[in-house]
Amino acid sequence: MTDYRKLVDEALAAKAYAYAPYSGLHVGAALLCNDSEIFTGVNVENVSYGATNCAERTAVFKAVSEGKREFSAIAVTSDLDKPIYPCGICRQVLTEFKIPIVIVADRNGNYKIHRTEELIPNAFSEF
Ligand code: THU
Repeated sequence: MTDYRKLVDEALAAKAYAYAPYSGLHVGAALLCNDSEIFTGVNVENVSYGATNCAERTAVFKAVSEGKREFSAIAVTSDLDKPIYPCGICRQVLTEFKIPIVIVADRNGNYKIHRTEELIPNAFSEF
C-alpha cells in the first residue's frame, strides 16, 4: 500500500490558511499530480454561504489552472477528530479529473484510503 504520509502532512499544513469565519471548520487538501508535484487547497468561505469553495476543489482548480491534468491522489483533513469526507460536489469534481484515490484524515493525521469510485458510485461522467 502506498504511503501517503507526506500528502496528508501537506494537507494538515495547508489547513492553517483556511478561511472559515462562518463554519469555524478549517479544511486542508493536498493533490498529488502524476509528475509528483503537490498542490494544496483550503476552504474559502463567503458571507453568501453558497459561494464557499471547499478545500478539495480549491486544490484541483489551482492545479488545473496551472496546466496539470494527470493526478494520482488527493488528501483531505480538518479540525475534526474523525476523517472528513468530500462533499457531493467535490466528489463530482474528483470524478471529472479522474483522481482515483481519496485519502481522508483526522486532525492528528490518522488516515484512511478510498477509491473515488467507492465514494461516488455510478457517477455521472461521459455522455
Ligand atoms: N468543507 C470542505 O472544505 N471540504 C469537505 O470535504 C467538506 C466541507 C468545508 C466547506 C465549509 O467551508 C466547511 O467545510 C463547513 O461545511
